Amino acid sequence: MTDSENIKEIKKLGEEIMIGGVRFKSNVLMAPLAGYTCFPFRLMAERLGAGSAYTEMVSADALKYNDKATTKLLYTDAREKLKCVQLLGAVPTVFERAVKSDLIQKFDVIDINMGCPVPNVIKSGEGCSLMDDIPRASKIIESCKRSGKVVSVKCRIGMNPQRIVIEEFARMCESSGADMITVHGRTRNMMYDGEPLYEYIALAKRSVSIPVFANGGIDSKEKAEEMMEKTGADGVMLARYGFENPLAFSLLTGREINDTKLSLILEQIDIAEELFDELYVLTYIKKLASYFMKKQPGTKRYKLDLYKCGKVSELRELCTAIFGSDDNAGLV
Ligand SMILES: Cc1cc2nc3c(=O)[nH]c(=O)nc-3n(C[C@H](O)[C@H](O)[C@H](O)COP(=O)(O)O)c2cc1C
Repeated sequence: MTDSENIKEIKKLGEEIMIGGVRFKSNVLMAPLAGYTCFPFRLMAERLGAGSAYTEMVSADALKYNDKATTKLLYTDAREKLKCVQLLGAVPTVFERAVKSDLIQKFDVIDINMGCPVPNVIKSGEGCSLMDDIPRASKIIESCKRSGKVVSVKCRIGMNPQRIVIEEFARMCESSGADMITVHGRTRNMMYDGEPLYEYIALAKRSVSIPVFANGGIDSKEKAEEMMEKTGADGVMLARYGFENPLAFSLLTGREINDTKLSLILEQIDIAEELFDELYVLTYIKKLASYFMKKQPGTKRYKLDLYKCGKVSELRELCTAIFGSDDNAGLV
């Protein structure tokens, strides 16, 4: 029997979904992306149709220092309707303390990072290495659940092709109290490349009754639909595609909007400028503009200008020149 035959019901993209008693306005979510998913970006994703948008991973241990950098990463206010944070760590008691802190109490959903593949994270027993320590992963979920908040887990399918543990891992997440799982359909050693292994996301979905979201390699509406069909997942989580083209949230969910890349980037500059210092605004907007140009022909010539730009006022003008032309205004 193929995976598609095993799937009872194929959900539609853009549907609302209840997770742990909280309403997500669509089942197309924005992934946590370190260095990218700051407050202005999350607001934009939510407005364009994302059911949720997560902060980048924040060290659960670092919260005890209450430092400026962490406070900036965790900025949120009433404009963000559903507030979702992602924590990274290895020690259950550290998570328990972290979720009680004022900075985390503002959030509605706590996601636990059990998928990060980078060597330093793995060495510290955090991220994807928790897929090799199921009892510890379980205690971490239980510690977060004691906060009374909605708890989700973002994981991969295992550490490597010999250690694919997603079935047992998904069951453990559910029995430890997780309200939702996002499965990035790659092993740790695949890092961010290669075709995701749909059959293991489908296996996770069949193994539990909590919602399962599918992540990895979605770069078009067709790919998102294929992911839903082949895995039976309750929804999808976009990562690089969502950052490259936030208009994808309206494309995938069918939400009507009147935005262009230019209107979005100018709005992002305004929100970032209101909250953050000039250096932060420049760094963030340059990253966003570079991503927006990625698949757009004829934009290479702007890269150097963007790199050299030292003032937000100049950046506004440059972005208007780049994204103001009809060629660069819309969806890619
Ligand atoms: C630059 C970058 C930063 C990332 N940061 C995080 C993070 O903070 N937390 C996390 O769980 N995953 C992180 N990821 C993984 C993504 O959320 C996602 O799982 C991965 O990119 C696969 O999805 P995609 O193929 O659609 O991009 C990151 C990926 C990239 C490329």
